[in-house]
Amino acid sequence: MGNLRETNPSLWVTTTPAESTFLPLDIGAGTQVDVAVVGAGIAGVVTAALLKASGATVALIEADEIGSGVTGYTTAKITSLHGLKYDSLAKANGDDAARAYGEANQAGLEQIASLIAAHRIDCDFSRRDAFTYTEQSAQVDAIAAEVETAQRLGLPASFTTDTDLPYDIAGAVRFSDQAQFHPRQFCLGLAATLPGAGSLVVERTRVTGIKEGSPCVVETEHGVLQAGQVVLTTHLPILDRGGFFAKCHPTRSYALAARLAGPVPKGMYLSVDTPSRSVRSAQGDELVVLGGESHKVGQDDDTRRRYADLEEWSLDRFDVVEQTHRWSAQDYVPVDGLPFVGRQLPGSKVFVATGFQKWGMSNGAAAGLIISDLVAGAENPWAATFDATRQRSTLGRDLVRENVNVGVRFVADRVARMRAPSVETLPPGQGAVVDIDGEKVAAYRRDDGTVCAVSAVCTHLDCIVAFNTAEKSWDCPCHGSRFTVEGKVIQGPALADLAPHEPQAGA
Ligand SMILES: Cc1cc2nc3c(=O)[nH]c(=O)nc-3n(C[C@H](O)[C@H](O)[C@H](O)COP(=O)(O)OP(=O)(O)OC[C@H]3O[C@@H](n4cnc5c(N)ncnc54)[C@H](O)[C@@H]3O)c2cc1C
Ligand code: FES
Repeated sequence: MGNLRETNPSLWVTTTPAESTFLPLDIGAGTQVDVAVVGAGIAGVVTAALLKASGATVALIEADEIGSGVTGYTTAKITSLHGLKYDSLAKANGDDAARAYGEANQAGLEQIASLIAAHRIDCDFSRRDAFTYTEQSAQVDAIAAEVETAQRLGLPASFTTDTDLPYDIAGAVRFSDQAQFHPRQFCLGLAATLPGAGSLVVERTRVTGIKEGSPCVVETEHGVLQAGQVVLTTHLPILDRGGFFAKCHPTRSYALAARLAGPVPKGMYLSVDTPSRSVRSAQGDELVVLGGESHKVGQDDDTRRRYADLEEWSLDRFDVVEQTHRWSAQDYVPVDGLPFVGRQLPGSKVFVATGFQKWGMSNGAAAGLIISDLVAGAENPWAATFDATRQRSTLGRDLVRENVNVGVRFVADRVARMRAPSVETLPPGQGAVVDIDGEKVAAYRRDDGTVCAVSAVCTHLDCIVAFNTAEKSWDCPCHGSRFTVEGKVIQGPALADLAPHEPQAGA
């Protein structure tokens, strides 16, 4: 189980140890802590570090390996410049909310920088300018409006047409003094500072249940531990009592790393054109990382085309000598453009952090700052804006109902389109949802010709999974759960594997 074993491992995963650094939970090693932090991506590791620094004892519990989730498959720009964010956020939610979002993300960036400095974490951290750019003159007004709003909110914004990209642009928002790093080296380095003085880190230990009380009981596949409070940093919260699966939708995007003949651009870029493209350097500026091709999870008939389109663009725009890595991942987009950070329900001892909209480096660290204050009972200037229990008009019932309905309608349509005539026609390396005796079955033909058949019904809320051709996984179009071809959970919100199905006779 787990993303370290994805079909396409990322640059960050292949350049860090594949073996676990920490042992699974061992009852007796430390079973009572002030705070249990569940999930060791950027949000979990930073939250745990800040809680420990505040004097709390912490257990950081990871189902797989540290930094092997989305954080191991990101492009890892650490910036408060999030595409064209601030003008629309200010118009929809007001200047105060937009300012709080910007301040929190700037603080998240600086928090990462100070943790790296304090613990001397070797993670290729480097200060860079970030750019949101367009090649279309028709988009320049939107760029200028973003600059104006960001400046009004006190962010380090300016307008420019000057970049080190190998092609011309029409205009860009530039945020100065932002940063990039190697996200998994950072997570591993910071996690290594946690054990001791009553705190512990465990890997390969999936949390399966939480009983809120005094203390809270955290149930895992290797036993239980007790904690005064619990923080769920599992990407989308497991055991989702706040209904976040209906307030966010998952989108998937793609990245590749390449060696160039000429110089690698040093800035961090994101275009607002269609299709959007992302550019940054990596490995001491020896590689370029290019990204894009965003789409809703489980809603693309052939994801291999996404890699092909990105590769074609890379060859068109850069002097590529060699493509070294490619990978894809997904993140949750919140309905009102603001992450959900704080108590999962009013008065709850369980906290969540989700909905980072592909900007989880700074937002994840900001979540750590907010949650560590809330756990300590301290005021936090951004907590109200990020409040996970907020009830604003954009989060009304109609929108939630529509969100769910869209998923259900899509699933019905997709099943109709994806249904293979029979398992026999499946070529090696391909999967499809088929009808077997009236049951929806997710069938995959291995390269040796044998068929692996599991139930196509997602164990989260019963949507029908779809085959991801590029990653060879079963992906749920409703809320983004992913499963291996054998049905094992790769990524929640589903907690249970797809049920096995007897292979069709003669297949
Ligand atoms: C292609 C792509 C590019 C991106 N680029 C950028 C970028 O340039 N800059 C930026 O700021 N953001 C970027 N993002 C977004 C960013 O990567 C994410 O928002 C961020 O990594 C999410 O971190 P997380 O800690 O919430 O989740 P994760 O990193 O997924 O961590 C969650 C962890 O919880 C664990 N877990 C799950 N269930 C359990 C359980 N039951 N018990 C125990 N552990 C569990 C998982 O194994 C996982 O390790 C990008 C996202 C994508 C998809
Ligand atoms: S992820 Fe919710 S039904 Fe599949």
